[in-house]
Parts: sequence; structure tokens; C-alpha cells
Amino acid sequence: MDLASKIRPIYDYPIDGIIFRDITTLLKDKAAFKEAIDKMAEAFYEEVDLIVGVEARGFIIGSAVAYAMGCGFVPVRKPGKLPSEKISSEYKLEYGTDSVEMHRDAIEKGQRVLIVDDLLATGGTAGAVVNLVEELGGEVVGLNFLIELVDLNAREKLKGYNVKSVIKFKGD
Ligand code: PRP
Ligand code: MG
Repeated sequence: MDLASKIRPIYDYPIDGIIFRDITTLLKDKAAFKEAIDKMAEAFYEEVDLIVGVEARGFIIGSAVAYAMGCGFVPVRKPGKLPSEKISSEYKLEYGTDSVEMHRDAIEKGQRVLIVDDLLATGGTAGAVVNLVEELGGEVVGLNFLIELVDLNAREKLKGYNVKSVIKFKGD
């Protein structure tokens, strides 16, 4: 199946010149959603204990991949949402910074973690999640994305890590 064709491009959203890659059209298509999750679940042969997924779209993809791989799921949340003791990691936006949080007891030392999100764009979010996992002593087995915007060169930021994606968009 041509999974890329299931992603709806929204031109000039949220600002002029940006093409927003809308995954809702893939998610509601049962065959496309299943194939996308199956591909992500088959991408890593290594032993994985935990999937770490990033609020919000990473929860949709990450929990499905965790179920398919038979792994536990750890949510990384936007600030102020987690109720127990937590750690946080900042990352740069075009203007200013943002941060993500994880419960301090979410990962045990030495646990093998696969980070999952819907989209790899600049890699800022993914880099911050790597920092959270490693601060707790987790081992990052890899990073697994549904979509990668190749031109933004996020792999430069994630050098040394095993980065995989199912759908790649380039040149636009
Ligand atoms: C989007 C996307 C990724 C992130 C990728 O999340 O879901 O998590 O941006 O961008 P980056 O590689 O440049 O960091 P966003 O927080 O915008 O929205 P969401 O809450 O809908 O997931
Ligand atoms: Mg997101």
C-alpha cells in the first residue's frame, strides 16, 4: 500500500509556507492504520521492554506499536500533566523553548526503550525524549517514526542512535 498517499497535506498550515502532514486520514482507514503499525512493530528486531510515546499524536501511534510488540508503554507529557514525581527536558523551538516531562519511576536502569512518535521534523522533541530516558538510566534501542521530514536533517541531532521511519517526505 502507498501509505504516503494516506497522509493528507494541508498547505499553509499552521502558517504560510508550511505543509502540515495530517495523519487523521491514515488513522481512520483500517487497512492503512494496521499496515502502518505492523510496519513500525516489525522495524526493530532487538529486545525492547518499553515504548516511550510523546503526547499527543505519539500516544496514538506509540500505544498501538507497544500493543503489537508486546511492550509496556510510558507516556511523555507536556508540562504540568503528570501527577507523580517527574523529570523534565527542554528543547528549542524556532522562537523560545518548550519542555516535556516523564515520571521519575517510569523507567528502571538498564531497561531497553524504543521511542515512538508520529513525526520526525527538526528532531527537537525526540532529542528531549532521549535525554529523559537516559537520565533515568534507560537504554535507547532506537527511535521509530511514522513520518520523517527528511530535509530538516533531524538525524544530525540524533547521531549515534538507530532512527527508522515508515514514510519519508522530501523536497517540499
Ligand atoms: C509534533 C509531532 C512531533 C513533533 C515533531 O508534535 O507530533 O511530536 O511535533 O517535531 P520536531 O521533530 O520538530 O520536534 P506537536 O507537539 O506539535 O503536536 P501534538 O501534540 O499533536 O503531537
Ligand atoms: Mg507530537
